[in-house]
Amino acid sequence: MADTNIVLDDKFSKELRWYYKSLDSHISPASRKLLEEYSHIPAVDVDSHIYKMRDILWSQAPYPCIGEFKFLTLNLPKHPLYTQVLTLLRETPHTKLLDLGCAVAQELRSLTHAGIPSSNLYGSDLNSSYLTTSYALFNDAETFKGTLFPADIFSPELFTKEFKGWEGMFRVIHAGLFLHLFSWEQQIEVCSRIIKMLSPEKGSIFLGEMVGCQGSNGHARGRGAKFWKVGTQEMKNFLHDEVTFPKMWEEVAEKMGTVGGWKVESKLKVRGEDVRAEKEKTSFFAGEGIGWFTFSVERV
Ligand SMILES: C[S@@+](CC[C@H](N)C(=O)[O-])C[C@H]1O[C@@H](n2cnc3c(N)ncnc32)[C@H](O)[C@@H]1O
Repeated sequence: MADTNIVLDDKFSKELRWYYKSLDSHISPASRKLLEEYSHIPAVDVDSHIYKMRDILWSQAPYPCIGEFKFLTLNLPKHPLYTQVLTLLRETPHTKLLDLGCAVAQELRSLTHAGIPSSNLYGSDLNSSYLTTSYALFNDAETFKGTLFPADIFSPELFTKEFKGWEGMFRVIHAGLFLHLFSWEQQIEVCSRIIKMLSPEKGSIFLGEMVGCQGSNGHARGRGAKFWKVGTQEMKNFLHDEVTFPKMWEEVAEKMGTVGGWKVESKLKVRGEDVRAEKEKTSFFAGEGIGWFTFSVERV
């Protein structure tokens, strides 16, 4: 039985409540379809393939999203701006998209399956092993021509080393379940770097989704705060709502002295009581006011 008091002495433990023992309904039909149609994994083998790959990824870096089988979840296609993003990528040749903190880059595989040339798709993550393992997960070492590049977004040499030449390169930057890993101050830093990489053209978009929290007190609510470290980084989890996110972006834009305006949109869907009770037992993030937060920031 998983310990509900979050014992992270052994973060690789398979008894943690976010290491789900069974796939059940944790994989969406869209993710299954991607593995069958894009990766050509026979339908009968999909479950065993997922279990096997999940344990490899868990042994590399045991994020809750790995234990919870969320590493295959396709959130970008459900984002309100998805159609706009697809149009942008389809209509203008060489339009590039970056998925930041992409883990196994499932969103990039889904975009490729939707007909976007993979050579225009970039993904980056702190854990290089996730990127490497993703080719086995999606069975596309020969066909996927996207760029998967390991980097710590906080690297002091980011734009002279890891992301050299990436300034102003992307019309679209996506960050899924990423910003919520960080404190307010860290998010300001991450978003400043995102602005540097975003194309100066109007219509360039930064978008994503993450865990949010109602009530502008995100720091208090991130239960991971005291327990979770990535390398030496402590995760302080500032969780946003529709008030704090635009406020943060205003701070970032001012810090960066950006010219022109930004259209900032965000939506927090707080978990209902029924879901909440269930999530208390199984999720990493749990508590009052916690929900699903979607955002977009567009240069106008
Ligand atoms: C919760 S996972 C989300 C993965 C993926 N975007 C998704 O939606 O399934 C967060 C990812 O951020 C990466 N990450 C954490 N800290 C990072 C950093 N400082 N720089 C780059 N990536 C980082 C982790 O390795 C992990 O893969």
